[in-house]
Formats: sequence, structure tokens, C-alpha cells
Amino acid sequence: MKKNRIGQGKTALITGASNGFGMEFAKLFAKDGFNLVLVARTEDRMKDLGYSLQDEYSLEKVCIITSDLTEPDAPQDIYDELKRIGVQVDVLVNNAGVGLHGFFHETDLDKEEEIIQLNITAVMKLTKLFLRDMKARNEGKILNVASIVSLMPAPLMAVYAATKAFVLSFSEALSNELKDTNITVTALCPGASNTYFFKRAQAENTRAANGPLSEPDVVAKDGYAALMKGEVKIVSGLMNKVQAATSNLLPDTALASTMRYQMEEEAEKETQYHSSL
Ligand SMILES: NC(=O)c1ccc[n+]([C@@H]2O[C@H](COP(=O)([O-])OP(=O)(O)OC[C@H]3O[C@@H](n4cnc5c(N)ncnc54)[C@H](OP(=O)(O)O)[C@@H]3O)[C@@H](O)[C@H]2O)c1
Repeated sequence: MKKNRIGQGKTALITGASNGFGMEFAKLFAKDGFNLVLVARTEDRMKDLGYSLQDEYSLEKVCIITSDLTEPDAPQDIYDELKRIGVQVDVLVNNAGVGLHGFFHETDLDKEEEIIQLNITAVMKLTKLFLRDMKARNEGKILNVASIVSLMPAPLMAVYAATKAFVLSFSEALSNELKDTNITVTALCPGASNTYFFKRAQAENTRAANGPLSEPDVVAKDGYAALMKGEVKIVSGLMNKVQAATSNLLPDTALASTMRYQMEEEAEKETQYHSSL
């Protein structure tokens, strides 16, 4: 058993741990000795990951919680289950999130309500529940996965970008509320990345999905390092840092035009062009 690891005796809860960034976060926490609570809907992927990390890094405990975070009661059920089995959450990673591509007047309202439930309501509820316990102990860390689109409007992903603006604003406000405590809140803003995200969002043919993509292990490392340092916000990747800096200079209308170009499907544009000839 490795001694003196920073996570020894501590537990990190990671939502969206069956794929993408969430899997990479799980690896980073495990390497530092944190026990894991993995939350998502796909149980077998989390079991494969969780139990192999437990073996590799000699973790005391790995809990797999199969949960659909679009269900309004899911955050309370997760919290109650962990209380029942005596697991204290020292680090909360609100990572699970999805998008939906398309013009808002055409997209499915039910799906958008689910996105709001997952990307906003579940994040807010899990934070409320676990932060109260952290506050009582005066110790804890929270990482909320926002996005580069937290900083700018994203036509054709309008609801998604608005949910991520919530995540960033919420995180920064909490970080300030907690500045005189030993609790930190960090927002991670990745750019377009090589995960299942674009496929789930039906956006795999967009320019953003087919342009340069960040690798999820690199993004997770950036987020993890910022979380450990207690930074308020981290934009992952050089090009995304440049884009974030530009977002402070350009008017929102120009940012919206740039993002719309990124979110358009190249093939569809060409088809429209040819059919108009
Ligand atoms: N990839 C990008 O370009 C990008 C850029 C900026 C920000 N982000 C953000 O990064 C976070 C992680 O996304 P990713 O890129 O890693 O995408 P991903 O590969 O699609 O992973 C999403 C994770 O969320 C889980 N999830 C989805 N719906 C869920 C639900 N209803 N209940 C519980 N868990 C659910 C998925 O697991 P199950 O399907 O097993 O439930 C999966 O583990 C998201 O918040 C996303 O908005 C992504």
C-alpha cells in the first residue's frame, strides 16, 4: 500500500464517470489515493473502471452508483445512500452534462428540459447537499465542469451554452462566498474535446466537432491541478485561453457569429448552396 498520498482516507464523488472527462478524473483521483464514488447511468463501464483502479492503486473503497441525474430526486437519493453506508464526500466533481444541436425553434423541448435538469438542477442540488457537510467540517473541494461556451452565446447550442453560463457564474459566486473557509470551488472551462459529447448532442458533423479537439486526459489534468490549487476558474488549452481572452474584447454579437460558424454543419451548408443553384 502506498503511503502519504494526498487522497489517502478521502473520497471523491465524480458524476459522468462512465465516459470522457469523468473517466479521466477517476484515474487522476485514484492515482493520488482517493476512494471513489462513481455516478452515471452505465453501470458496467463504471464497474470495469472503478474496480480496476481499486486494484491498481490499492483504494480502500469504490462505490458505483447507477443514477439518472435528470430525475429530480437523484441528487437526494445519492446523498442519502452515501449517508446510509457511511461515506463522507471530500471532493465533489460535477462533471455529467450533455448538449443538443439545432435551431431552438426545431429542437425537442423535452430533451432541453432534461439538459437543464442535468446541467443545472443536478449540479445545484448536489452542491447544496454536499457543501452543507463540507461547511460543517470547514473542509472540501468542488469542481464544476463548465465550458468555453460559458463565456459566449452559442447559436445552434443555445440552451446548452446557457446552462454552462449558469455553471460558471454559480461556481464563481460560491467561490467568493466561501473565500474565508477551507472550501474551494473551481470551474473548468474546456473547449471542443475528443469525447462522446458531440455524438450525444447530435453535433458530430459540425465544424467544432471536426476541428482541433483537446484530449480528455489533458483537460482532466488541467482541471485536477486547478482544483488541487483551489483556483476559481481554469480554461483548458492554449487556443481556448486565447478564445476566452478574445471574449472579453469582442462584442457578444461578434462572438455569437463566430460560435455559429463553429456549430454549423459544413456538409449541410454545401448542400443548401448547391440546391439553391
Ligand atoms: N467534450 C467537449 O467538447 C466538452 C467541452 C466543454 C465542456 N464539456 C462538458 O464536459 C462534461 C463531460 O462531458 P464529456 O465531454 O466527457 O462527454 P461524454 O463523453 O458524453 O460523457 C458524459 C458523461 O455524462 C454522463 N451522463 C449523461 N447523461 C447522464 C444522466 N442523465 N445521468 C447521469 N449521468 C449522465 C454519461 O454517462 P451515462 O451515459 O453512462 O449516464 C457520461 O459519463 C459535460 O458537462 C460537458 O458539457 C465537454
